[in-house]
Amino acid sequence: MRKKITVVGAGNVGSLTAARLLVEELGDIVLVDVIEGMPQGKGLDLQQMAPLLNHDARIIGANDYAETTASDVVVITAGLARKPGMSRDDLLAKNEEIMKGVVEQIAPRSPHAVLIIVSNPLDAMCHVAKRISGFPKERVVGMAGVLDTSRFRTFISLELGVSVQDIAAIVLGGHGDTMAPLPKYCTVGGIPLEMMMSQERVNAIIERTRNGGGEIVSLLKTGSAFFAPAASAVEMVMAVVKDKKRLLPCAAYLEGEYGYDGIYLGVPVLLGAGGVEKIIQLRLSPDEKSALDHSAAAVRELVAKLKCCAN
Ligand code: NAI
Ligand code: 2OP
Repeated sequence: MRKKITVVGAGNVGSLTAARLLVEELGDIVLVDVIEGMPQGKGLDLQQMAPLLNHDARIIGANDYAETTASDVVVITAGLARKPGMSRDDLLAKNEEIMKGVVEQIAPRSPHAVLIIVSNPLDAMCHVAKRISGFPKERVVGMAGVLDTSRFRTFISLELGVSVQDIAAIVLGGHGDTMAPLPKYCTVGGIPLEMMMSQERVNAIIERTRNGGGEIVSLLKTGSAFFAPAASAVEMVMAVVKDKKRLLPCAAYLEGEYGYDGIYLGVPVLLGAGGVEKIIQLRLSPDEKSALDHSAAAVRELVAKLKCCAN
């Protein structure tokens, strides 16, 4: 039997995620949005791609949650996206309300699902989803590191003129200006990045990666990035539905790992059928640890402003 995947939020990221899930034939899809008729219309349009793309997966759109019952994976992209001049943090209050409402509908209907959170501010929204669902930490995971790492790899590839396939990299920390790309763990065809590029260029690429989302927002003017974010969410869904045990940077709930307790932060994890099956602990230099501390402090500051997490 095909897996069932719900995508909540049928905007830019959600509808592209649904499209890619269909193309990859990862399961049957339910696409939910509050706008009347919109997810149904997009669902029908997406379904009609099937004969052209040769897939047999089914997709339906809905404004309520009845059809989402017994989903295996739920990707939550519902919420406001950034506009120019807006930080991810500005989205906090509105998106907390939206996330809470969505998870209250999803969790009782799909109590065994893995929730993949996309809405911003990402790390804080993971806290909301975990708190409201009551799911174990393994089954509430955030998408950010896959995207941030893809941006880092892209910029290195463009700079060196080397295939992205040969570039391995990792970005840790929260999804925001404090994210911490780790050049020490970046290799180009197995060769350490520092042997291929000057420190000055590495630093410039790190800075561009940190501002990767903002750079696109200021160009688009009406919203934020969606092609690479959707592809990143699908990479995570694939790891779960195919139980691939991918080693990917994801926002995971830490309980002592890296010296942090009770916080979502981007770290390398093994992602498989059970969700976050293992958190991989890297040995960090004092500078790297201090960058991660900075990132963790920024996430804590936001979480402290959440209504649902106030004690
Ligand atoms: P969008 O505005 O195109 O789509 C958002 C959709 O959510 C809209 O269709 C809206 O009607 C829907 N929505 C609002 N309230 C809802 C509710 N209560 N229930 C169901 N649907 C609801 O925005 P886009 O570009 O798709 O971004 C979605 C979210 O993802 C934003 O918060 C954005 O900041 C975030 N994002 C996160 C990334 C990451 O790396 N974690 C990357 C890109 C976007
Ligand atoms: C991004 O990084 C907006 O978080 C989103 O593009």
